[in-house]
Amino acid sequence: MSLVLIVDDDLDLQLLLKEALQLRGYDVLLASDGLKALEIVEESKDLSFVFLDLNMPEMRGNEVLEKIKMIRPHLIVIMLTAHSTIQDAVSCIKQGAYDFLEKPAKVDDLVSLMQRAGEAKQLLETARYSGPRVEGMIGDSPPMEQLFFLMEKLGRVKTPVLIRGESGTGKELVARAIHFNSDNKSGPFVVINCAAMPENLLESELFGHEKGAFTGATERKMGKCLQANGGTLFLDEIAEMPLLLQAKILRFLQEKSFTPVGSLREVKVDVRILAATHQALEDMIEAKEFRLDLFYRLNVMPLKLAPLRERKEDISSLLAHYIAFFNKQFNLNIQGVDPCVLDTLLQYHWPGNIRELKNVVEHAFILEESDLITLSSLPSEIKELAPVGPYKRDYLDTRVEGLDFKREKESFEREFLKQALERNQGKINQTALMANIPKKTLLRKIDFYQMKSTGKQ
Ligand SMILES: Nc1ncnc2c1ncn2[C@@H]1O[C@H](COP(=O)(O)OP(=O)(O)OP(=O)(O)O)[C@@H](O)[C@H]1O
Ligand SMILES: [Mg+2]
Repeated sequence: MSLVLIVDDDLDLQLLLKEALQLRGYDVLLASDGLKALEIVEESKDLSFVFLDLNMPEMRGNEVLEKIKMIRPHLIVIMLTAHSTIQDAVSCIKQGAYDFLEKPAKVDDLVSLMQRAGEAKQLLETARYSGPRVEGMIGDSPPMEQLFFLMEKLGRVKTPVLIRGESGTGKELVARAIHFNSDNKSGPFVVINCAAMPENLLESELFGHEKGAFTGATERKMGKCLQANGGTLFLDEIAEMPLLLQAKILRFLQEKSFTPVGSLREVKVDVRILAATHQALEDMIEAKEFRLDLFYRLNVMPLKLAPLRERKEDISSLLAHYIAFFNKQFNLNIQGVDPCVLDTLLQYHWPGNIRELKNVVEHAFILEESDLITLSSLPSEIKELAPVGPYKRDYLDTRVEGLDFKREKESFEREFLKQALERNQGKINQTALMANIPKKTLLRKIDFYQMKSTGKQ
């Protein structure tokens, strides 16, 4: 049920509209002046629409609009206006009103405008969140944006994907995300770690075996390839797969069928293959430890996860994410990090990537005694990078003056995008190309900073 606020100093009109809208299934709140309206906007979080009279004695509609937009920038506001003030109504649109209606407004017009505005808002929201956001997958740095973009595409096809990246960069998380955003998502997601078992066991683990196929095979066993039927098989640490099995996996990829150990029958399945490694496969191919043909088959769609040190702008949101995570787990209420800690974490090179960052936060939760993570609760190899002596004092002084990483970053971004858009007359494709920024990211930022484009591609 949508909640509507009507702001008008004309009490008869208020009541008339209220009754008519209630009859059509809306919940309605009333305010006869701007101050009361702002109070309601602040308190009623589930408010969907505001109808705002432009001509009110105490605070004029455009002033009220400006304040509403400060409190709730995305709230849909529709101006009500007498014919003589249409010019003002147009300037309200520039200020962020969705539309205006001339008085006396027909209730049907009010309703159809709300429907249109509601749909547009929903479209905007789904467009903004259309990437395969996986719960707990954090990051909006350019490499992460690029990754989300590719993952969305990969959800729609069944091509094998080779996920590469250093240890702890999120390869398994990405594999799960691709599966759970694909058409196969209701099917199983089965993992096999090729580094975890000897060659002969690995084969029967993958393809299964018949009873009596080898000493110890007392029962028939279903392999992971069959378990994954209708879903995804994730071959983790694929570089560790012995050459003989590499040939069998290649055949499986090409034929979609396999023969269990000790069996004469081929089994056909419908499985999508994802694979991951942190090894330099190219070197292994040269050393004849990895098959070139398998590499080509898997590498149709390569995904390379950037190490954390190359996307340090994600550190602060990862920190916030893990602080919330461990607050819940340890039942604590840590508020954040000392600014000096953030500075130090930004200096560090993170060989263990996100897994290491998660461990660092957990480490701090165990040691920390205040409600902010301070330098003293960081591991020593990180702590020693902290600015010391007078610099630290300078640093803290600047913080008092209000230096804030996120705000500085946003103000730089806003100015950068403004200039890039201006130089390209607001054209999206051209700006994206010139500024070397993915189009989707650009659109999202334009929306975030409420900037203007020509809307032209
Ligand atoms: N973008 C991310 N946002 C939040 N957490 C992440 C992100 N990427 C990875 N993680 C977390 O980091 C940890 C390591 O991720 P994962 O196990 O997927 O890494 P990996 O690349 O498979 O590492 P390895 O090569 O060592 O197996 C996990 O706890 C995972 O949830
Ligand atoms: Mg892994």
